[in-house]
Amino acid sequence: IEHFSAQQDFKGKTVLITAGPTHEAIDPVRFIGNHSSGKMGIALANALAQRGADVKLVLGPSSLAASHDNITTFPVKSAEQMFEVCKKHHPMSDYCIFAAAVADYTPEEVATQKIKKKDDDMMIRLRKNVDIAATLGKQKKDHQVHIGFALETNQEEENALGKLNRKNFDMVVLNSMNDNGAGFQHDTNKVTFYFKDGHKEPLTLLPKTEVATQIIQAIKKISSRN
Ligand code: CTP
Ligand code: CA
Repeated sequence: IEHFSAQQDFKGKTVLITAGPTHEAIDPVRFIGNHSSGKMGIALANALAQRGADVKLVLGPSSLAASHDNITTFPVKSAEQMFEVCKKHHPMSDYCIFAAAVADYTPEEVATQKIKKKDDDMMIRLRKNVDIAATLGKQKKDHQVHIGFALETNQEEENALGKLNRKNFDMVVLNSMNDNGAGFQHDTNKVTFYFKDGHKEPLTLLPKTEVATQIIQAIKKISSRN
C-alpha cells in the first residue's frame, strides 16, 4: 500500500545517479578499487523511483542492486566506462547525483596476461582518470541540478567548498569520516550540505535512507529557485 500512496512528486523527471566504486584493471584478474558499497546512491535511486522519477543508475561493481520498475541500472566497472554511460544520458537528465567513489587513477597499461611474480619489487604506473562530475559540470544547463559528494578527513569545509566550485555543483554533501558509524560500509552518515549560494546545513547522524530523503528535499528546494 505504501508503494501506491508514495508521493509522485518526481514524475516526469529524469535523474542520473552514479554509485559504487570503480575497478581499474591491472591485469585479467586484478584491479585497483575502494570500499564504497554503493548504498548511498542506491538509496537515492530507490527513493526517487518511488516518487515517480525515471532513474538511470550507473553502478560500479557492488554486491547491492536497486529494485524498482522506474530504475534502469547500467552496470560498469571502470571510471572510463562510467563516464561513457553518463555522457550519453546527461543531456536528457534533469538532476544528476554523483554518489560514486570513482578511482582517481588507473593503470597506464593493462596486462593482457596475468602478471607473474618476480624476485624484484614492481611498479605500476598510473594515469589520472576523467573527472565525471567536473566534465559534465561544464556542460550543465540552467535547468539542470548537479549534486556531488565529498568524503574528507581534514580541512573538510575548505575541501568540500573547493569541490562545489570546481565541479559546478549546486550542492555538495560532505561526509564526515570523523564520526563513528559514518561513511563507507556503514548504514549511517553524518553529513553537511553546502549550497552554491553560500549557506550550509549540518544534519545529525542519520541512516543513509534518511540522508537520501533529505538530499531529495534539498533538490526540490534548489530546483524551485532555478
Ligand atoms: N567524481 C567524479 N569523477 C571522478 C572523481 C570524483 O565524478 N573521477 C565525483 C564524485 O562522485 C563526487 C565528487 O566528484 O561526487 C567528489 O569526489 P572526490 O573523490 O571527493 O573528489 P576529487 O576531486 O577526486 O578529490 P580528492 O579525491 O583528491 O579529494
Ligand atoms: Ca577522488
